[in-house]
Amino acid sequence: MILKSKDILDLESLSADEIGLILDTAERMGEISRRPVKKVPTLRGKTIILFFHEPSTRTKTSFDIAAKRMSADSIGMSASSSSMVKGETLADTALTLEAMNPDVIVMRHSSAGAPHMMARLVTSSVINAGDGMHAHPTQALLDMLTLRQKLGSLEGKRVAIIGDIAHSRVARSNINGMTKMGASVVVAGPPSMIPYGAESLGCKVAASVDEAVEGADAVMMLRIQKERQENFLFSSVREYAANYGITRERLMRANDGAIVMHPGPMNRGVEIPSDIADGPWSVVLDQVTNGVAVRMALFYLLAGGRDADSD
Ligand code: CP
Repeated sequence: MILKSKDILDLESLSADEIGLILDTAERMGEISRRPVKKVPTLRGKTIILFFHEPSTRTKTSFDIAAKRMSADSIGMSASSSSMVKGETLADTALTLEAMNPDVIVMRHSSAGAPHMMARLVTSSVINAGDGMHAHPTQALLDMLTLRQKLGSLEGKRVAIIGDIAHSRVARSNINGMTKMGASVVVAGPPSMIPYGAESLGCKVAASVDEAVEGADAVMMLRIQKERQENFLFSSVREYAANYGITRERLMRANDGAIVMHPGPMNRGVEIPSDIADGPWSVVLDQVTNGVAVRMALFYLLAGGRDADSD
């Protein structure tokens, strides 16, 4: 089986079988990262551009590590160091990059739809590394890989996503991907941070964090996306933490063995306290580790690797 599209732009475009293929491939790629020599020659001679128009720690670094572990050549490019600061349009930037014949362009942009525009203009594969409030498909894939590893399967599992749902591309991609893979998703947060008509995304909306966490197998905490809010949508951080932060007491409502997830970056003491972020429920660092595996899998599936097991 192969992926139907040349691009990974959102999870709406992927079938459950394609998501399964990516997660299965990522399991094999994760094994490469545990070897003493963490490198295979699979994508030797392939060129990958990492075009990040917004800050990133996890996503950019893990894409770069993934490329290097596959022996591809990766080139980082930021908005501030590109000719976009001199007025070059996104379309001209796309055509300029295309003229250099890359195999994959990984793109993060503050505007929803920017990677889709890039994908229409270039023949190389485009991977969306987060576009505005729209989608963050590779984050959702690594989250689903983590759920699968910790819970065995997503089928029939209840996932609570808590916080600033309205401005979260992570929430949108996870709701789509997780429900496609058989999980039920319930969201909770301040009414000002729950999008109008949230149910149309495929999730339930709970009236409180307690209600959302009740019977959950996984609880995903989200930070307040201040960079996407014109005005702070809650009266005070302290009140937010008291009403919408996760606590040990709230976690007691979840199922036995429930896990706590966070896509990062975390705001400790706001949506998640340190005793939970660093405690036995937390799989936050497993999510980061799985980010490398998922991104290796996508490079392999998109850039035509055929020999991932050889070294
Ligand atoms: N989860 C996530 O996208 O983190 P970064 O912004 O650090 O890449």
